[in-house]
Amino acid sequence: MSNLISQIYQDHLHMARILKLIKSEIDALIAEEPRDLEVLDDALRYLINYADKIHHAKEDIIFHRLQQVDPASREVLNDIFSEHQELFTKGTEFQHLVRAVEIGDFVLRKEIVAKGKAYTDALFSHMRKEEENILKRAQEKLSEEDLAELDLDHLTATDPLFGEEVQKEYQDLYNYILDQYGEDWRHPAHRVV
Ligand SMILES: [Fe+2]
Ligand SMILES: [Fe+2]
Repeated sequence: MSNLISQIYQDHLHMARILKLIKSEIDALIAEEPRDLEVLDDALRYLINYADKIHHAKEDIIFHRLQQVDPASREVLNDIFSEHQELFTKGTEFQHLVRAVEIGDFVLRKEIVAKGKAYTDALFSHMRKEEENILKRAQEKLSEEDLAELDLDHLTATDPLFGEEVQKEYQDLYNYILDQYGEDWRHPAHRVV
């Protein structure tokens, strides 16, 4: 498998881990358990700054090339492009509500839960669709030369949370993940499909 495609799978594993964490924070909100919203805020910042701006941006470029070499994938990939935009909107809307609560604004619990669920469900099913329908196709149809020609120079940022080095702004989130799950978050059982 090309490095580029295997990085996409690797990102999905990490995004799934963060999504599960977000889901458990939402469950805690539903159960009215006291929670530090900083964790949710950090997790969403990671997804918006890395998943949306790097991972999805990279996929957009790879998948546009796939559309050129594999016209049969045109329609499903157009859906994927729309979903990338919708996910950014859903993620930022959810983040705004979390931040509003953090600064003491009145936000209905059911509103924040609904936005959170809509976002996490949409991102999970998006990744599942990519893994079931798209990534294998990309591996089959795109040669190493096709992939090498892609202009990804502006998207070289490494994963700031699960990459070689944890960036300072995500250190609290990383510590929280280790506290909650230990090294278990690396386990392959957390794969998307
Ligand atoms: Fe995607
Ligand atoms: Fe993806």
